[in-house]
Amino acid sequence: SGQQRRYVIGVSQCSDDEWREQMNREITREALFYPEAEVVFRSAGDDNKRQIHDIELLMRNKVDLLVVSPNEADVLTPVIEKAYSKGIPVILVDRKIHSNQYTAYIGADNYAIGYNVGEYIASRLQGKGRVVEVTGLRGSTPAAERHRGMTDALREYPDIRVTASVDAGWRRDRARLVFDSLLTHAPEIDMVFAHNDRMAAGAYEAAVKYGREKEMLFVGIDALAGEGYGVEQVASGQLDATFIYPTGGDRVMQTAMAILTGKPYEHDVALSSALVNKGNARVMRMQTGQIRQLDEKIDMLDKRINHFLTRYASQRVLLYTCVVM
Ligand code: FRU
Repeated sequence: SGQQRRYVIGVSQCSDDEWREQMNREITREALFYPEAEVVFRSAGDDNKRQIHDIELLMRNKVDLLVVSPNEADVLTPVIEKAYSKGIPVILVDRKIHSNQYTAYIGADNYAIGYNVGEYIASRLQGKGRVVEVTGLRGSTPAAERHRGMTDALREYPDIRVTASVDAGWRRDRARLVFDSLLTHAPEIDMVFAHNDRMAAGAYEAAVKYGREKEMLFVGIDALAGEGYGVEQVASGQLDATFIYPTGGDRVMQTAMAILTGKPYEHDVALSSALVNKGNARVMRMQTGQIRQLDEKIDMLDKRINHFLTRYASQRVLLYTCVVM
């Protein structure tokens, strides 16, 4: 519509997957409330070089603010520092860099989530058992923090042994492959902790192939709603539990606009997490179903308003033409 777009926000996502899509949807939805802003999205497909290229491109296109979820911390730090030093505000989401050259960070505490997973494992295994960890991309901060959290929690339980820790780069297909080869080597596994639900699903698939999925429990992170995702996996019993890793796209957009318009904002926005297990997965499924319906209604209202606005605009043109004649 005729509104002037005064601000352009560039979003550089490290990956394309259902979790990223949900965050992007939330950002787009929240942007409806800021007609003076336009958001452009780039997705790097888990590729550092591509993400550096994306950020350079957004800078060349003179975005007013950058939102970045850096694929790997070390490699992405210089280009983000470069943008920041040029005066472009930078909001880091979910993943961090090894530098304080950024404007704000928004995300859940990955160390705390890892620690809670460790405690959960200890209580489910009653202090004794063998654990396999399927980690996210090692160079990304959530993987490092989740690993450290779990390890610290398990220090209190000497009879729980982490027999293997393998990097599956946040991807389902890779988790299936690495867990498949692990199964052929590791005789006994009581618990599998995958750093996200997608990798838990991949590991589970490999276990099913050998008819061994009942021998062990699977725990993940993310707890997305929707068919095949975390909450459903818990409800169906495929996952023993998962932890909510909020996408927080609405907060991202709100923070971006506060920064751009000179309003106060938080430097660190801590999104909260919670355990999803058999006991609450059904309730969560019901509630997220309702939220989804409300979301669809909001989208419908937006479409209608746009429709009316266009009609109104063309009527005005007509009226003007009549008056002139
Ligand atoms: C999505 C994702 C999530 C994970 C997060 C960690 O791209 O892989 O599944 O929790 O990134 O940064």
